Amino acid sequence: MVTVGDLPTQSAVDHVLSTTRNVRKRLDPTREVPRELIEDCLRVAMQAPIGSNALYPHFVVVTDPAKRTALAGFYKRAWDVYAPLPTSAANLHFDDPIHEAQQARVTASSAYLAEHIADVPVLVIPCISPRVDGMPMWVQACIWGSVLPQSWSFMLAARARGLASAWTQIHIQFEDEVAAVLGIDHAEVQQAAMIAVAYPRRDDFKPAYREPIQKYTHWDNW
Ligand SMILES: Cc1cc2nc3c(=O)[nH]c(=O)nc-3n(C[C@H](O)[C@H](O)[C@H](O)COP(=O)(O)O)c2cc1C
Repeated sequence: MVTVGDLPTQSAVDHVLSTTRNVRKRLDPTREVPRELIEDCLRVAMQAPIGSNALYPHFVVVTDPAKRTALAGFYKRAWDVYAPLPTSAANLHFDDPIHEAQQARVTASSAYLAEHIADVPVLVIPCISPRVDGMPMWVQACIWGSVLPQSWSFMLAARARGLASAWTQIHIQFEDEVAAVLGIDHAEVQQAAMIAVAYPRRDDFKPAYREPIQKYTHWDNW
């Protein structure tokens, strides 16, 4: 019997899973991303699980420079609200030097994206309907759970095809204004993220520092 672990693709899959970083400074604004490549990644993304066949996600792919500039304005406003919050990436601090240095890089990189997101050639907004507002938590979980796996699969598929991307969500603070720019029916449709996509200026992505799984794994009891 052949198990997944025996397949020669395992290391390739693990490599993609371990090196799909949130890329911001290295997104190349000068290289056009072919439409077919984005469609190819979306086709793969659609293979991720959904809670029911009534919960197909939608993807709004934004390449129009004027619309990207409008979205970038809302993104920068969202960053300016988020960054000073005590819980923001900019204000997180850690006792261990590895974690602290990693956080400083994330903050600098996030601030850079907030200034430059208009230049990123493709912004993908995964959406789902119905909206989660006022729903019981378990229903909200099923709705978010029907769009976020697709979104991550999209980023993995993009990485496997030589693209890079950055997962963002802070624009949801201004979701209704973004909906108006993109013709999204805000009363019905929930935006889940804004994924910035481009070719990377350099492609030598490595696994990030993560704490040991033993600290976060609970066998049979928390
Ligand atoms: C739920 C969620 C929301 C996020 N929102 C943003 C965001 O709005 N802007 C941003 O620059 N990065 C955002 N990120 C990216 C995180 O900051 C990112 O995971 C972190 O930089 C670690 O990156 P790494 O996996 O490459 O080490 C988000 C990530 C997640 C999982």
